[in-house]
Formats: sequence, structure tokens, C-alpha cells
Amino acid sequence: MQLTVHPGNPLRGEVTVPGDKSLSHRAALFAALAQGESVIDRFLVSGVTRAMLDALTPLGVAWQVKDERLTVCGAGLDGLRAPAAPLDCRNSATTIRLLAGAIAGAGLETTLDGSAGLRRRPMGRIVEPLRRMGLEISAAASGGAPLHLRGRLPDQKLRAIEHVLPVASAQVKSCLLLAALNGDGPTVIREPGPSRDHTERMLRAMGVRIENPVTNVVVLHPPSAPLRPLRLQLAGDISAAAFLIVAALVTPGSAIVIRDVGLNPTRTGLLDALRAMGADIRERNLRDWSGEPVGDLVVHHSPLRGTRVAGELVVRMIDEFPVFAAAAALADGVTEVREAEELRHKESDRITAVAHEFQAIGAKIEPLPDGFRVTGGRVAGGAVNPHGDHRIAMSCAVAGLAAQAPVTIDGAEILHESFPTFRETLIALGAKVECK
Ligand code: S3P
Repeated sequence: MQLTVHPGNPLRGEVTVPGDKSLSHRAALFAALAQGESVIDRFLVSGVTRAMLDALTPLGVAWQVKDERLTVCGAGLDGLRAPAAPLDCRNSATTIRLLAGAIAGAGLETTLDGSAGLRRRPMGRIVEPLRRMGLEISAAASGGAPLHLRGRLPDQKLRAIEHVLPVASAQVKSCLLLAALNGDGPTVIREPGPSRDHTERMLRAMGVRIENPVTNVVVLHPPSAPLRPLRLQLAGDISAAAFLIVAALVTPGSAIVIRDVGLNPTRTGLLDALRAMGADIRERNLRDWSGEPVGDLVVHHSPLRGTRVAGELVVRMIDEFPVFAAAAALADGVTEVREAEELRHKESDRITAVAHEFQAIGAKIEPLPDGFRVTGGRVAGGAVNPHGDHRIAMSCAVAGLAAQAPVTIDGAEILHESFPTFRETLIALGAKVECK
């Protein structure tokens, strides 16, 4: 599929975005571990969440999804069944890392594998602590998938450990917390920064005792009772809303409202970075949806100026750097992103790929070992290839709205991985978008 975005039209109107990807992954898997039927509304049906759902079937979990309502018949913490064949996690790092934790806890003999892209993602960060917990697990020689987990006797618990994450990562933290549900005592996880805490919030809602004695430290106490099933409505994905927010900011004459967006503070780093650039983004109608903060965002076109992003802010906007590059390229002055080396381990090496693709459409962007530097001003337009990375595809499309000439994205079907309605939503807001 080829997508062409034409500059010019202001964006106006009120929209919603699909349910949050991180919440959708967790809701599906945690519901499988609960005792009883869970019902989850506004579930994101997309490439990566399908990978999670389809992996649950061979584990003996029955589920059904209809009109964004997911119903899961929970198997319980010890009710999963060993699959006959390797589980295919496709292109989803969240699926493989969270499943590895859940399966480690359940003690099942399993192989977890995925696409060539997934095989390139680092797995040593979960393999090493899972081994310390007493799990027999092996990875490929590269340190990535396929992962092979050896089974354990049903009554054999994992060792409770204290683990210090070298890099803040919600996937690693969640993997270990899931394994720790079957630990022989409280597990303690320390992180260098505030990675997203959806797992902690959702497991708490299911009855698990989880504490944060100090910032960036989590303690999980293994439950003595079954996990309670979920009855939830998922917040809109702020990482999907991010594309619309930047689109409205950079396109003259725009004024939009995005309703029901998840505003968990571990996810709102982009809003802080954009406000530091002069963005007019307002939050209204703030609410709580099952322990997750939700609100409506009102965004007006704003002249942006360059800024610097580093430290904890990097963690709180870890998925938003491709679209942040679009904002920086269309801002006045220099923007620098530092201490973000972790971007090299995402769906693509996001430092190299973002620099390459934004250069292809005429932005002045220079890769740095731990980030990038953008000299803002103008984006010429042209053709890009998103390197199999959904966020790069959508970010270049956003830049096209305020470029000098149209931006064309080849292989644009990749955006179905996380935001299947991206094109329709832009069109509903008034953008001129063609699809071939
Ligand atoms: C996610 C955590 C982040 C993020 C990813 C989703 C999650 O990855 O980039 O898109 O749902 O836990 P890391 O844990 O590798 O930082």
C-alpha cells in the first residue's frame, strides 16, 4: 500500500483513537491468567495485539473479539496448557516478553519465536533474570528469539529475586512481575527511570499486592487467591493520539479534540516536550478508568521552537521519538535528543531509521550515538520507506501535512500494526490523503 499525504488542509474536528496497545496486550494476557470471564471494551484489534491473542489459543485459552469487545475465559494462574508447537509472536516484542514471564510462572515447556524483525530484538534482558529466578531458558546464539523455556513440576515455585534493570523497560519489568506471581516470596524490581506502570495498575485491580516503596521500585507479593477477572474499558492510546497531536500543531489553522485518551503520567512525556516547544495542548474532562487516568486533549496549531530532551523524559516518551522528529523538523531552531540509545532496540534502529527517512523528505536531521539533532525550519516532501516500522510510517505522513510538497509512504500497510484507522482519522479531520 502506498499512502500520499498532501500539505495544506487544516485539521478540524473531534475524534477518538483506538484503545491503548500496551493496555490491550496486558488485558488479554492477564485475563487469561484470571479465574473466570473477563470483558474488555475498546480493545485494540491490530497486528501486534492479534499476535498476543493468537498465542493464547494454543495455551488453552478461549477468547472472542467482536466490535472492539474482547471476552476471555480465564484459565487461572496454573491452568495454561503447554502448546504443541512453538508460539509465533510475529512482530511483537511485548507479546514475546510478557508471554515469556507468564509461561515461566506457569512452568510450561514452550518455544517462543517470531518474525525476522523480532528475532533481532534483545532478549538477554529477560533471559538473565529469569535464569536467576531458577527458570531453565535458552535463547538463540544472537541473544534473541527463539526462546526455549523448560517445563517445571506443577508445585515448583520460582525464586523471588531482587533485580536492577540496567535500562528502564516496562516489557522487562512486566515479564518479571508475571513470573513473580509464582515466586516463593516478594520480588523486588528497581529501574533507572519511570517506565510505564500499566502492569502494576492492572494486576492491583485483579487483587495482587504490589507496592512502590520508593520511586522506580516495585515489590510484588505472590497472590494466595486466584486473580479476579477484568471488567474494563481501555483508554485511547496516547501513542496513537501523538500523531494527531503533532499533526494539528504543525498544520496551520488546525484545532482538534481527541477524546478519551490515556494520560498515565508514565506515558505523557511527549506532551511535556511539546509544551516546552510552545505547543497549545489542553487537558479537560479528566477521569479515572479502572485505575488509569483518562482525559480529552484539545490541540491548536502552534508555532514551535527547538528544545532538548534527555533523562527521565526519554523514558516517558519512548515510543514518540519518530513523531517528535516531525515536530522538531517543522519547529524554529535546534532540537536535540540525548540519552536515548535505547531507541536503537525498537521495531527498527530508530535513531538511524528516523534520521534516514526524515533526511529523505528534506529535513535537517543528524544521528547522534544516543539520539539525534534536528535543525528545524522546513520539510521538502518526497518518498520514504518506513523500514517495517509503523511509527516511522505515520510520522513521515504527519510531516507531509506541513511539508512544501506531498510525502509518499511505500509499504504503508505496516501502520496496521498499531493504528489501523490512522488514514481514516486524518481524512475525517480534513487532511488530503490518497491511498494506492
Ligand atoms: C511497551 C514498552 C516499551 C514500548 C513498547 C510497549 C509495553 O518497550 O516501547 O512499545 O507495552 O510494555 P520497552 O519495555 O522495551 O521500553
